[in-house]
Parts: sequence; structure tokens; C-alpha cells
Amino acid sequence: MDFLMTEEQLAVRDAARDFAQNVLKPGVIERDTHQRFPEAEIKQLGELGFLGMMVDPKYGGGGMDTISYVLAMEEISKVDASSSVVMSVNNSLVCWGLEQFGTEEQKQKYLVPLAKGEIIGAFCLSEPEAGSDATSQRTTAIDKGDHYVLNGTKNWITNGGTASVYLVMAQTDVEKGHRGINCLIVEKGMDGFIVGAKEDKLGIRGSDTHTLMFQDVKVPNENRIGEDGFGFKFAMKTLSGGRIGIASQALGIASGAYELALAYSKERTTFGKPISQHQAIAFKLADMALEIENARNLCLKAAWLKDSGMDYELAGSMAKVYSSEVAMRVTTEAVQVHGGYGYVKEYHVERLMRDAKITQIYEGTSEIQRIVISRAILKD
Ligand code: CAA
Repeated sequence: MDFLMTEEQLAVRDAARDFAQNVLKPGVIERDTHQRFPEAEIKQLGELGFLGMMVDPKYGGGGMDTISYVLAMEEISKVDASSSVVMSVNNSLVCWGLEQFGTEEQKQKYLVPLAKGEIIGAFCLSEPEAGSDATSQRTTAIDKGDHYVLNGTKNWITNGGTASVYLVMAQTDVEKGHRGINCLIVEKGMDGFIVGAKEDKLGIRGSDTHTLMFQDVKVPNENRIGEDGFGFKFAMKTLSGGRIGIASQALGIASGAYELALAYSKERTTFGKPISQHQAIAFKLADMALEIENARNLCLKAAWLKDSGMDYELAGSMAKVYSSEVAMRVTTEAVQVHGGYGYVKEYHVERLMRDAKITQIYEGTSEIQRIVISRAILKD
């Protein structure tokens, strides 16, 4: 693995940094306060190619590697994790899955506008009683020959209200367990598809999280992704890559908080010197820098494995669980470095601390990542 980035990768990182600092930062506190979705900002992010970064240019994407994606995710997440989760879901969970496993017709119809950022997508696996235990899907997709009839409820769906295209996992044959699950492409506006209430969340408040209801929704057979019964594996394979995205989001939240704490520690004076000159603060900063470096290396290693065509499931889970735990520790310490100022919105670190928490929960909790890691290291 080459620790030197290419000029192209650095250019992507710099473009993401400019966008985050100049476009996302000015309104981020207001969007968080009022739970306002960054509609105009996401449109611009799409125009710049950040919503379909890794998709082949022939399908409207940027044709970039996963390392560039990690670098961009870190920069966007330093400033606005609500925007970066939209980016992560669209790139990793929706575009990647469609490009890998969709038919040519599905790619032309759905992937092209998604990769261009003209529309955004959602990934619908979690249910009221099937979060971590994803095989226990209660949503049903009954096969009627030329179409499926979809019934059920999905929970905690990122982009739930704003998406146009939804990848929905549902049980077709309960006898077959996880091998009886299908993934169907559902369009907003299909009869019987209801977008429920928007969640009022602790963090990533600018993102749009909803419950979705499906009541006898007729989904054409050609909207199934892959062979009959491929839905669970589709979800697992897609989430393996998605975890690199969320790991990078957590990394960005941590490094954003660290950069703010570092700058503040040089400005703020107590007992006659900048607080960075007090060992109690200097050691906190040292620990933050150390943990962030480790998290970044794990994220880049997972991305490099993926770009090299090697197995990245274990590395992605390691990156996710470690980066998300670092994000919690670093953001909490960043608030501490800021003292009372850290507890108010104006200084940004309290929001980063609230945003950090979700990275330990979505796309597989820390407990789920430890299941994946322990299975991998214990298998013969
Ligand atoms: N790639 C390919 N196949 C995989 C796989 C992977 N990463 N992981 C599992 N599979 C396959 C297995 O090989 C097995 O197939 P066979 O039976 O043919 O051998 C099948 O899937 C079932 O696997 P398991 O027996 O391991 O299944 P399990 O019930 O024990 O569960 C789990 C495994 C890892 C716990 C899984 O349920 C899981 O990842 N749960 C967490 C789900 C999750 O991340 N939800 C997040 C929701 S999405 C979200 O948050 C998006 C958002 O909005 C931000």
C-alpha cells in the first residue's frame, strides 16, 4: 500500500474540503437546529460528482477509486455529517449495489440519474423488529408472476422523505429464511407507498430519517435485483462497502473536532499561557491525533483492499467499529478542551459530539461489527 496519495486523489480531497468549508459550513448550525435537509447543498454536491463518485462514467459516475471516496467523506464529514450520510448512502448502498448487481435496464433507468446526483436513493433494510438481526424481515414481497406485492414497514430510513428510488429488502419465501429475501427497487409515488413521520434525532439532524409503509404496493418483476432469493446477500455485500463510508464519516467527525480543539487550544489563554501549553490539554491533543491517525489508516486500508479487488469485509468492519469509537472519544474530549464554549452551538464541537453517536449505531452497530470480526478471526 502506497501511503502517498496520487495527484488526482489529492485534488478530490481538496475539492471536497473547499465545498465543505465554503458551501456547507455557513448554514450547518441553522440546519442542525431546525432539522432542515441540505437540499440546495446536496444538489450542488451531486453536480460536483460526489454522489456517484465510484460509478463508471458510462453510467454517469465519476469513475474514482474508494481511496478518493474516503478522502472526500472525511472532508465533508469534518463539517457536516448530515450531508455526508446522504453522500455515503447514495454512493455505497444505492449506486454500488445497482452497478454491481443491477440489470442493464435498471442501470439505465435508476443508476444513471442517481450517479449524476439528479435524484437520491435510500436503502431499506431495518424494520421495527429487524435491525441488527437482519434476517428476521417481516416485510413481505409476494410473487404474483409479473409483479410482487409488497407489504410492511421500514424504520430509520436515511433519505426516507427526499429519495426518489428505494432499495427495499423483503421476505418472499419465509420457509427459506435469508435465502427467501429479495431486494426490490421501489419508486416514490407507487400506489400504497407511504412516507411516514420524520424522526426528531439527537444528531445528524439535517439528514432526513423516516419510517416507510408499504401497503399492497405492486412492484414489477423487472425491479428485483439479482436472482430470486438474492436480497439478503445483496444487503450484506452492499453493507460491507457501506461500512467503509460510515467509518470515513466517523473519521471526519473526529478530525473535524480535533482541528477545532487544536486551533482553540492555541488561542485560549489561562494562567498566563495558551491552554495548549498546559500538559493536561497537550496530552489530550496527542491522544486525539494518535487515534485519528489509526482510524485513517484503517479506513484507507479497507479502501485499498476494495480497490485492489481483495476481500474487505473484515477490514471494513474494523475500520467502522474503531473509527466510530474514536469519533465518540475525540468529540467528547474536543468539547472538554473548549470548556463551557464547547457546550454551546456556536463552537460546532457539541454538534460533532452528537453526530458521532450514530456512527456506532447505523450500518451495523459496534456489537454487529464485533460479530463480523470475531467470526473472521475464529474461523478455521
Ligand atoms: N457478504 C456476502 N455474504 C454474506 C455476508 C457478506 N458480508 N455476510 C453474510 N453473508 C451471507 C452468509 O455467507 C450466509 O450465506 P449462506 O447461508 O449461503 O452461507 C448468509 O449471508 C447469512 O449469513 P449469516 O448466517 O452470517 O447471517 P446472520 O443472521 O448470522 O447475520 C449479521 C449476520 C452480520 C449479524 C447481519 O445480520 C448483519 O450485518 N446485521 C446488521 C445489519 C445492518 O448493518 N443494518 C443496518 C441497516 S442499513 C443502514 O443503517 C443504512 C442507513 O440508513 C445509514
